[in-house]
Amino acid sequence: QTIHLSDYTPFGFDVTSVDLTFDLAPRATRVRSKITFAPRAGAADTRFFLHGENLKLIGASIDGTPVTPQVTPEGLTCDVPDRPFVWEAEVEIDPQGNTALEGLYMSNGMYCTQCEAEGFRKITYYPDRPDVMSVFTVRINGPHPVLLSNGNPVTRTQGSAEWHDPWPKPAYLFALVAGELVNHPGRFTTKSGRDVELNLWVRPGDEGKCAFGMQALKDSMTWDEQVYGREYDLDVFNIVAVDDFNMGAMENKGLNIFNSSAVLASPETSTDTNFERIEAIIAHEYFHNWTGNRITCRDWFQLCLKEGLTVYRDSQFTSDMRSAPVKRIGDVIDLRARQFPEDQGPLAHPVRPESFQEINNFYTATVYEKGAEVIGMLRTLVGPEAYSKALDLYFERHDGQACTIEDWLRVFEDTTGRDLAQFKRWYSQAGTPHVKVTEHWDDAGTYTLTFAQSTPPSAASPDPQPLVIPIAVGLLSPNGDEVRATQVLEVTQARQTFTFEGLASRPVPSLLRGFSAPIVLERDVPPGQTAFLLAHDTDPVTRWEAGRTLARDSLLAMIRDGVRPDADYLDGLRRLVADDTLDPAYRALMLGLPSQSDLAARLSEAGTTPDPDAIYAASEAMRDAQAEHLSDLLAGLYADHQVDGPYAPDAHQAGKRSLAGAALSLLTRTDGGTQAMAQFAAADNMTQQLSALANLIRAGKGKTALDAFETQWHADRLVMDKWFGLQVIEAKPEDAVATAARLTEHPDFNWKNPNRFRSVLGALTQHHAGFHAADGSGYSLLADWLIKLDPVNPQTTARMCSAFQTWRRYDADRQDGIRAELDRILATPELSRDTTEMLSRIRGV
Ligand code: ARG
Ligand code: ZN
Repeated sequence: QTIHLSDYTPFGFDVTSVDLTFDLAPRATRVRSKITFAPRAGAADTRFFLHGENLKLIGASIDGTPVTPQVTPEGLTCDVPDRPFVWEAEVEIDPQGNTALEGLYMSNGMYCTQCEAEGFRKITYYPDRPDVMSVFTVRINGPHPVLLSNGNPVTRTQGSAEWHDPWPKPAYLFALVAGELVNHPGRFTTKSGRDVELNLWVRPGDEGKCAFGMQALKDSMTWDEQVYGREYDLDVFNIVAVDDFNMGAMENKGLNIFNSSAVLASPETSTDTNFERIEAIIAHEYFHNWTGNRITCRDWFQLCLKEGLTVYRDSQFTSDMRSAPVKRIGDVIDLRARQFPEDQGPLAHPVRPESFQEINNFYTATVYEKGAEVIGMLRTLVGPEAYSKALDLYFERHDGQACTIEDWLRVFEDTTGRDLAQFKRWYSQAGTPHVKVTEHWDDAGTYTLTFAQSTPPSAASPDPQPLVIPIAVGLLSPNGDEVRATQVLEVTQARQTFTFEGLASRPVPSLLRGFSAPIVLERDVPPGQTAFLLAHDTDPVTRWEAGRTLARDSLLAMIRDGVRPDADYLDGLRRLVADDTLDPAYRALMLGLPSQSDLAARLSEAGTTPDPDAIYAASEAMRDAQAEHLSDLLAGLYADHQVDGPYAPDAHQAGKRSLAGAALSLLTRTDGGTQAMAQFAAADNMTQQLSALANLIRAGKGKTALDAFETQWHADRLVMDKWFGLQVIEAKPEDAVATAARLTEHPDFNWKNPNRFRSVLGALTQHHAGFHAADGSGYSLLADWLIKLDPVNPQTTARMCSAFQTWRRYDADRQDGIRAELDRILATPELSRDTTEMLSRIRGV
């Protein structure tokens, strides 16, 4: 059954207060609710419907008089008085049996919750929709030393705790945690003087992995005060690490719950990449306190209102804490890897979708990452000052409300006087726009750029209209000077020309600086010009893009025409990598290649059916060519970028390690693994241990190191996730499926844990040539496991179905293979709504 944005109707009652009492028991937790409802004058919908799923109703009353509601699998209805009344209900739930990890569930003996988007209805009967906001008081009865809920603590006695959250909130922000946890404490004083107790709660044994997360939290709190003027609003802020969690983390008011992989960190067990991700996720969840919690969403179609904005805010934070260009390039890579395929395939949907069956299927790269890009474009168009003003108005006008994208855009219209009607199409139109650029030079010194935009039609948006596309452009003279600084051209028409006057000579354009819009830029570049930009561009992002374009075009030519790697690319790369004035992290990025699935997409767009083995072979050949072309530099690069002194996860050290790591992976191609072996033996941090291990596996010499690694780390779940994943990722294409299959037989392959499931099956889907093995074995292994996981955990199953979204790119045999697996899964009795929706969209008719 499909839900439509256009069907929105407010709930007919205000919820004045909510009192909840939990008597915890693993198989039979009792939840008593006491809720005050007040009918709203003039309400269009006066039905008293409360959501509820998998609940055993023990009893209900209104104003103390027992009632017998009509109960269905989705909820209940009841006759209610035409005045304010007190609803009481008691239900029984089974946290231990809750393997879907939605609602109240257990993870390693600890109780925890995940209520976004619609999990609260698995805890008690309630109008479980984000526009119903109320003040919650929660009593928890249980023998556990730690009993937590939202807001501030009220009382704590042996076997019981009471919490009160003064800020009205929707039910999806409710949280409860109970268990034997230990605390890493901290304090923060807000700029107006509120003294806040900070706690990071973890399982005994994980105490040593808390310090970094705590510091990241304090940094986030400071940054939000300084940059957005937002202060924290409770006396305590709790974070809890949980091993079994479907997503990264959750911004429950005052009680954030994290996948342990998104918060626990130590130098010995976490890589530099892990540290950066953890810092960003802690910031993300903390920033939600204002963008999400104080101002929430009217309905789930508005999900990007909080997620796009909060991703944008956390990317600004990371840019400020670390290197802005490196962060931006990382985001571009990520967008192309995850969002573009979504926008270009059968799962394409607008940033604000207009219909869904299961909202959990719309926590997507489009809503999150493209949603953040849209905010970045808005800021580019109005400028940073106007952006700040609009945000101030947003917080002032909408604090305490459940809002829409219309509300969001109106604060920009009201502060800037701009009409954003056309800009709004970014929210309602699916698809990645293509912008074709042509140029004209006349010898009088006039240079023109013409942009022609078009968005490929999709099922979600069959008739795409022109968008407002900010294209940041700079002009370089033929000797590499910047003759026109960056300016933003606003492309609003299907076809539009911009003129530059008074130039002494024909310039070289540097286009889409900073990746100013999430588009595909197309241009027939004169020979040598991309290499020129790689050497001279003054914008770090477009300079990186020039290198990436050369690498990509060379790889495509190698795949299609069997030619050798492009010497211009290798020469340009060499100059850059050897340039010690450039940030090592940036140079490491320069050594990267476009992903194999990105190459597949390009081939397919250009009308060539991608052959995964040929793409793999070309990528390997290019790596060998890099190793050969840079051979005399590699040992020096490796040695010069070793870090002296104790490990720190900061951008400076991480950058050095990433360049040394990139050098090591090229060195391993020629030294047979000698250097990697030495690094593995000497490593005192996970970044170097893991990169050494990856190289040894790739060189076919991983056996001893893998065993040693397992012996060392078998008791550490997060590190063992890496051990599982790496073996699949680094396998030869012909071994990837067998490796994944073998690992699923390992005694520690606890497939009900989402992290472990993803470490093997998710890794297989990331191995382009392995997953797309010509015999279809990758497809059927994944399908077997999706069928097995679906009844246990529909959410994680449905998310992984997206591995099939690109299936129409491939040859007829592979398409047949995938279609057969899609049909086999779809034919499974009682397949979840989540997985059914995903697969039907992917398969089409
Ligand atoms: N709001 C969370 C975040 O982005 C994500 C939680 C989504 N959970 C889900 N089951 N859909 O920070
Ligand atoms: Zn979020």
